[in-house]
Amino acid sequence: MTNAKNTVRPFIANRRSPRAFDRDLSVDSEILSSLLEAARWAPSANNIQPWRFIVGQKGDATHKKIASTLSEGNRIWAEHAPLLILNVTQEVGERGKQSYAWHDLGLATTQMILQASSMELYTHVMAGFSKDEARSAFDIPIEYMPLTVIAIGYLGDASNLPEKLQKRENAPRLRKPLEEITFQNTWGESLA
Ligand SMILES: Cc1cc2nc3c(=O)[nH]c(=O)nc-3n(C[C@H](O)[C@H](O)[C@H](O)COP(=O)(O)O)c2cc1C
Repeated sequence: MTNAKNTVRPFIANRRSPRAFDRDLSVDSEILSSLLEAARWAPSANNIQPWRFIVGQKGDATHKKIASTLSEGNRIWAEHAPLLILNVTQEVGERGKQSYAWHDLGLATTQMILQASSMELYTHVMAGFSKDEARSAFDIPIEYMPLTVIAIGYLGDASNLPEKLQKRENAPRLRKPLEEITFQNTWGESLA
C-alpha cells in the first residue's frame, strides 16, 4: 500500500492536537457556526443525533466553567484556547438505552475537528476533566453524559509552553501500521 500521507487529504493528514494556541487570535462567530454545522450533519444510529455541545468562548462564563473542570495537566495550556467545547451525549432516550451514543458523538466531533482543520484551525480533544463537576456546573440531566472537551484555536508559539510540554509538542506523531489494523479473510490476516 502507498504511504497514506501522500493519499490522504492535507486537512486530514496535517491535523494534530497541539497545546500551543495563539492567545490573541479569536475564532469569529461565522467560523464557529460552521464547526457546529459540520458536527450537526454527522451520521448517527437511527438518526437520533444524541450529541449536545456546550460552547465556551474565551472571556465568557461558559469558557471559565469548562476550564475549571479540566485536569491540571490540561488546564495549564487549554485555558488559553479561544474556544472550549464540552461534548455531551444522550445515553438514554425515549426508547431506552442508546447503545451508539458514544460512537455518534465521536462521529460528530470528528466532523467538527476536520471542518476546523480545513479552515486552518487546530483542535485538541480531552477526556481529562471532571465529568461530575461538568455535570453540576451546567445542570446536565442524568440521561446525558459529558464525554470530552475540545480546545479549538489557531496555532500558537510553543515556546510559551512549560518546557516539558514543549518537548511533547514537537514529538513525532506515531501510528500503528495499516497491516496491523486491517484484515482480510480472517482475523489477523493482513490486507494485501
Ligand atoms: C477521547 C480522547 C481523549 C483525549 N484526552 C486527552 C487529554 O485529556 N489530554 C491530552 O493532552 N490529550 C488528549 N487526547 C489527545 C490524544 O492524546 C491525541 O489525539 C493522540 O495522542 C494523537 O495525537 P494527534 O491528535 O496529534 O494525532 C485525547 C484524544 C481523544 C480522542
